[in-house]
Amino acid sequence: MNKAKIAVLVSGGGTNLQALIDAQSSGIIKSGEIVLVVSSNPSAYALERAAKAGIKSEVVSKKQLGGSQEEFEKGIITLLDDNGIDLIVLAGFMSILSESFTSRYPKRIINVHPSLIPSFCGSGFYGLKVHEAALSYGVKVTGATVHFVNEIPDGGEIIMQKAVNIRKDDTAETLQRRVMEQAEWRILPRAVEKVSKNLVK
Ligand code: GAR
Repeated sequence: MNKAKIAVLVSGGGTNLQALIDAQSSGIIKSGEIVLVVSSNPSAYALERAAKAGIKSEVVSKKQLGGSQEEFEKGIITLLDDNGIDLIVLAGFMSILSESFTSRYPKRIINVHPSLIPSFCGSGFYGLKVHEAALSYGVKVTGATVHFVNEIPDGGEIIMQKAVNIRKDDTAETLQRRVMEQAEWRILPRAVEKVSKNLVK
């Protein structure tokens, strides 16, 4: 069967990348194949996860490119083109991509965000900050969202969501972990399969 060629863009620990790798082994992802991992951070642990799984990885660091967003995006686009990528998955990728980047890949970039969009999202809401904001607001339910990426940060069409209850004794760290375990690691692989299946049909 023809499979969608997937690139996963990461910046840190890469637990969502690991969930995708595991879902590929277990057959949850069968319409796509991760052929490339691109990290914006040369010391991301996600790079080791890619290596262990035998997946090619590359680093494109904005810092090493003199801080230019244009050069950073050009570097990523070259890798995506060279590898014939069909689907781009942002899995803990901590840079916002410009409209000139996102408009090249309509409905071909997806992102996982650790809240129920439209709460606690948009620029400035990433990683632990999202969970700190949810706790300080006092919401009782949070969760994760997988969505298409367009020119509006966290504003593209929603593909899947899953809710997670907040506990009285939660800290941002315990909540982050539970949202990952109960929501992100489950819906991201399923959303990737759903979108890949549509791309290859
Ligand atoms: C995840 O919780 C992901 O949803 C979040 O960063 C964490 C990365 O963890 N992403 C964002 O906040 C993007 N706005 P990981 O590197 O272990 O997958």
